[in-house]
Amino acid sequence: MAQGRKSIHGQWSSRWVFILAATGSAVGLGNIWRFPYVTGENGGGAFVLVYLLCVAVIGVPIMMAEVMLGRRGRQSPINTMRTLAEEEGRSRAWQYLGWMGVLAGFAILSFYSVVAGWTLAYVFRIGAGIFDGVSAEAVSGAFDAFTGDPERLLAWHTIFMAMSTVVVSRGVKSGLEKAVRFLMPALFLLLLVMVGYALGQGAFSQGVEYLFKPDFSELTASAVLEAMGQAFFSLSLGMGAIMIYGSYLSEHASIGRTTVMIAAMDTLVAVLAGLAIFPIVFAYGLAPQGGPGLIFKILPIAFAGMPGGAFFGVLFFLLLVFAGWTSAISLLEPIVAWLVENHGMNRVKASALAGILAWLLGIASLLSLSVWSEYTLFDKNFFSLVEFLTADIMLPLGGVLIGVFAGWQMSRQSTVDELGLGDGVLYRGWRFLVRYVTPVAITLVLLNKMFDLF
Ligand code: TRP
Repeated sequence: MAQGRKSIHGQWSSRWVFILAATGSAVGLGNIWRFPYVTGENGGGAFVLVYLLCVAVIGVPIMMAEVMLGRRGRQSPINTMRTLAEEEGRSRAWQYLGWMGVLAGFAILSFYSVVAGWTLAYVFRIGAGIFDGVSAEAVSGAFDAFTGDPERLLAWHTIFMAMSTVVVSRGVKSGLEKAVRFLMPALFLLLLVMVGYALGQGAFSQGVEYLFKPDFSELTASAVLEAMGQAFFSLSLGMGAIMIYGSYLSEHASIGRTTVMIAAMDTLVAVLAGLAIFPIVFAYGLAPQGGPGLIFKILPIAFAGMPGGAFFGVLFFLLLVFAGWTSAISLLEPIVAWLVENHGMNRVKASALAGILAWLLGIASLLSLSVWSEYTLFDKNFFSLVEFLTADIMLPLGGVLIGVFAGWQMSRQSTVDELGLGDGVLYRGWRFLVRYVTPVAITLVLLNKMFDLF
């Protein structure tokens, strides 16, 4: 156990609250916005298969490692890494892993808030009925016109960032429990309704086939990297969000079972989102490669055609905003905890400072969709570049280092004690995965992509 160390930021009231909070962090725009669009860009089935494999073989063991480190260190990721490295007689340089996480958190939050802003806008746009009786092309056109208008994007981005900052400033634990307990099941039910609607649109089997029938000729080096990146992004791994949530977890909770549950729920939501969206894509003869705008171009068509569509549409986008909200706060929390610990700031000041910095960076992302669209690197605008560097590079890199620390730098005894899996086949399986399988797999995927790139 964590030698009786206590977090100065408090503790979850039960293991169940931790599960809710971590699921709230994991389930978000990554499942419903990002999973369908990267799946569509990478050709479907084979990509999905690699993604599922990454969740099971890399995601679950790394998540266990992250929760374990957090619970043992009981501080922000930077201080947790420093403390644990000292305790195990390892280099203080491990704290830079915490720093990379903080940086990745800022960068992810910056574009995440922009997309959450789109979601907020769509609550009102669907509610106002602007898509009723409109053709599929016009729905796409409306999205492009919307993201081409930086002033509107700025307004929504600002509102969402303010919402996230306010929650973090009041302490992540109060309020989160209630929000997640009701809203997550509601989102889940609504997704089922939408899958039910998609079922009747005449192209359901085509959608299922697209998602689950692997065509390995589509599987490029980039697709494999993006599948892995999506697994990290969706599970909130590799930057310390799950670590800081783990630092508020009581020492009696079983890390193994908890982690598998969170990963399973997260993955189920992503798959349901795919099942709700791709049949509609094919029913309307549209292309799956719609890019980051995919769900905003597809779902309004479905809601316009559905009985009670305005109601379901408003509710759906509203729940998606909540799902994004509970994710965004987990991106801020590690930074805020560090500012409180090391700079003696109060939470309000720390949240405001972190929120403003991420907001500023987000402005560059939203401008890159219109006025700065000609500035590109590797063929990506700023928005896509930040998304690529964080999700596909920094998170897997952070994840592999977390696994290496847990598997190679901590003593076997420390990890046996902290994980609470006993010393049987489960523990050995975990240790084998973090020591050998995840580092080799992640390194191969990153190298493979590098040679593809240059
Ligand atoms: N997992 C969230 C989603 O799917 C996004 C997220 C929250 C995240 N915290 C994170 C991604 C930490 C990476 C790292 O929407």
